[in-house]
Amino acid sequence: QTVADPMAAREDGRRFAHHTRREIAEQPEALAATDAALKGLALPPDVVACDRFTVIACGSSLFAGATAREAIERAAGVTVDLEIASEFRDRAAPPRGIAILISQSGETADTIAAMARFRAAGLSTIGMVNVRESVIGRTAELVWPISAGQEIGVAATKSFTAQLLALMRFGIALGEARGTGDAAFRTRLARALDDLPRICTEAEAMEPIARILAERIAGEEEALFIGRGWGAALAQEGALKLKELSYIRAEGYPSGELKHGPIAVIREGSPVIVCTPGDAGQAKVLANASAVAARGAHLVALTDVGGAEAAAATAAETITMPGDALVAPFAQAVFLQLLAYHTAVVLGHDVDRPRNLAKSVTVE
Ligand code: F6R
Repeated sequence: QTVADPMAAREDGRRFAHHTRREIAEQPEALAATDAALKGLALPPDVVACDRFTVIACGSSLFAGATAREAIERAAGVTVDLEIASEFRDRAAPPRGIAILISQSGETADTIAAMARFRAAGLSTIGMVNVRESVIGRTAELVWPISAGQEIGVAATKSFTAQLLALMRFGIALGEARGTGDAAFRTRLARALDDLPRICTEAEAMEPIARILAERIAGEEEALFIGRGWGAALAQEGALKLKELSYIRAEGYPSGELKHGPIAVIREGSPVIVCTPGDAGQAKVLANASAVAARGAHLVALTDVGGAEAAAATAAETITMPGDALVAPFAQAVFLQLLAYHTAVVLGHDVDRPRNLAKSVTVE
């Protein structure tokens, strides 16, 4: 349970200057609570029978869906499409399959409007909400809860990693119920997810490195985040977090797309953060990264133990996060949150209430 005063001592005696920083620290408890809330939840027959899902959400919640998509598709052998709620609500295309509505608040107007299109077509909806007593929490046919606890800071932090966990557990449960997908992957992923509280604790301990990098980024006008697969989605989340907290122009891009235009912005010293895991996909993202390094970019690779050696051969700096490639989205998310937080602190911004933003966006 989050307390209203960020300065109030936690059980471990720690106090924080901001809600956002406290909520970053709360991720181990939040993830354990999400797992506890999901225990024993069964999937209804129409969900088990479905092989095509559409994730609909906004902002960080959409990026959580995009980051988890690969794991769900592999674990369950189903297709997961992604839709930006504010765009989907006005599309002419008829909804198909089952919608997964991801929303921390459960009150986002665009996501509710997109949900209405599925309901009007007589199709089921799954609500992944943190606030159970919300429009989406009350009206979705199935609620698959994200029990991250109250989030006060405007920027999504613990709710993002809890959404990732809820989505991956959904993929595992779906694959098991359907008997489709990669069973060996499910077993490995489920075991890796059990270890997340420890991984997030260790990732938070990388704070001094995030702070040093933040001091440098604070002096930049822009930053680029790149990756492939889930790394591309996490790059977008890292860029969103940096821009909303520090007001620095930041862009997250799939690294394979850089050569189709964005590489033109690279100059000598441009900071590029590469989200890369130590798995079979790493060689491709590093090949894309070396193309930007050849144009003068300063590459900072975020990786795991299995990816550190290859990353260090390409990047100017390599940051090795705890855990293996399966939990890398979580460990890297924590680091990116700390990076954005400290950049905003260096620049003297109101971290908990960034300008022009609201926690719950109830207008179109
Ligand atoms: C970014 C952030 C927003 C929200 C978005 C959706 O840190 O918090 O991008 O993710 O406004 O909000 P929910 O999840 O409440 O639907």
